[in-house]
Amino acid sequence: MADLRVEICGISFPNPVWPAPGPPVRDGAAMEACAEGGAGALVSKTVSVKPAEVPTPNMAEIKGGFLNTELWSEIPVEQWLEVEYAKAKATGLPLIIGLGYSADDIRNLAPRVAPFADGLELSTHYIGENPEPMMNAIRAAKEAVDVPIFVKLSPLGREMVAAAQAAQEAGADAIVAINSFGPCLGIDAETGLPLMGSESGYGWLSGPAIKPLALRCVMDIVREVDLPVIGVGGVSRGIDVIEMFMVGASAVQLCTASILKGPQVFGKIVAEADKWLDEHGYDSIEQIRGLTLRKLAERQVRTYAIPPVLDVEKCTGCRLCEISCGYDAIHVVDEKAVLNTDACAGCGLCVTRCRPGALTMPD
Ligand SMILES: Cc1cc2nc3c(=O)[nH]c(=O)nc-3n(C[C@H](O)[C@H](O)[C@H](O)COP(=O)(O)O)c2cc1C
Repeated sequence: MADLRVEICGISFPNPVWPAPGPPVRDGAAMEACAEGGAGALVSKTVSVKPAEVPTPNMAEIKGGFLNTELWSEIPVEQWLEVEYAKAKATGLPLIIGLGYSADDIRNLAPRVAPFADGLELSTHYIGENPEPMMNAIRAAKEAVDVPIFVKLSPLGREMVAAAQAAQEAGADAIVAINSFGPCLGIDAETGLPLMGSESGYGWLSGPAIKPLALRCVMDIVREVDLPVIGVGGVSRGIDVIEMFMVGASAVQLCTASILKGPQVFGKIVAEADKWLDEHGYDSIEQIRGLTLRKLAERQVRTYAIPPVLDVEKCTGCRLCEISCGYDAIHVVDEKAVLNTDACAGCGLCVTRCRPGALTMPD
């Protein structure tokens, strides 16, 4: 078994797979279920000074992803203070309390939630792209409490590295990237109406569709900002955790996968990541952190074709490679792929389509 424990901002976490603010952590009971499901921390739903009034419908599964137009918590902060946080705290897991949005809001809320908080996570989703309101909210949090301040960035028009640098300058202790992406639009063709009940019909994209964006943002921030980065966006399997760590994340959060698969998904993802590490000869998840950055630094960009390596034994003759090879370089003959390396342009597509792993890219 590999060591999946992580330490971030002086807090020890039993594993690096945590819920992200959203329905899976909407109240104390939901957070208890995440803890039972194997999460390595609890990050509570963003709370603000007023309960949110959320339009309906506000969630939809779409091909490759998920749309939502939820806001922050509909539960008043008083109920969080009287009931919900105590339930989360009783699980024994570190509790990071989600708060939003302005400096005034944070000045009001942070001291009140402090007795329950191992850390605060400030959402910057509704305070625009000018960094000043975010920086003021961070400063207000730093003045109000002694626990680490995690700052969650939204991939709007915003330049994420500049936003993370501004957060660091204002005193943030860790960066959380990314929030859902948008605005986006989904349509129900039967009614002609948007899937989301918001006035504009817009919603925010999450799930597998945003994982490449999240990986890119995490890597860029890790390169330029000397703070731990928590990777969020499309994590639903152990391999996603591995990839997030490879680009430099110190932990991950997930929301959509927990909505769609239930809270037991946390333990499942931890077990999958553990298995991957074991199979690849790593003792600890920390050993792969930043691996992609190190590999990229050594890599020469090539403009000539290097064909994939074909392990015929593994080929099932499914033809996915043949169908999508635009260079006519791969054909299935007698249920096995045959590669014409002279015709191959080295584009790599067949490798990513090969389900049994018969095609691999050389290093
Ligand atoms: C229904 C829903 C509600 C959300 N509510 C919040 C929230 O209150 N605060 C916040 O910072 N992010 C919120 N998010 C964003 C998630 O925490 C997360 O950043 C995003 O969905 C990307 O991760 P995922 O692909 O694992 O879902 C919400 C996402 C969804 C889908």
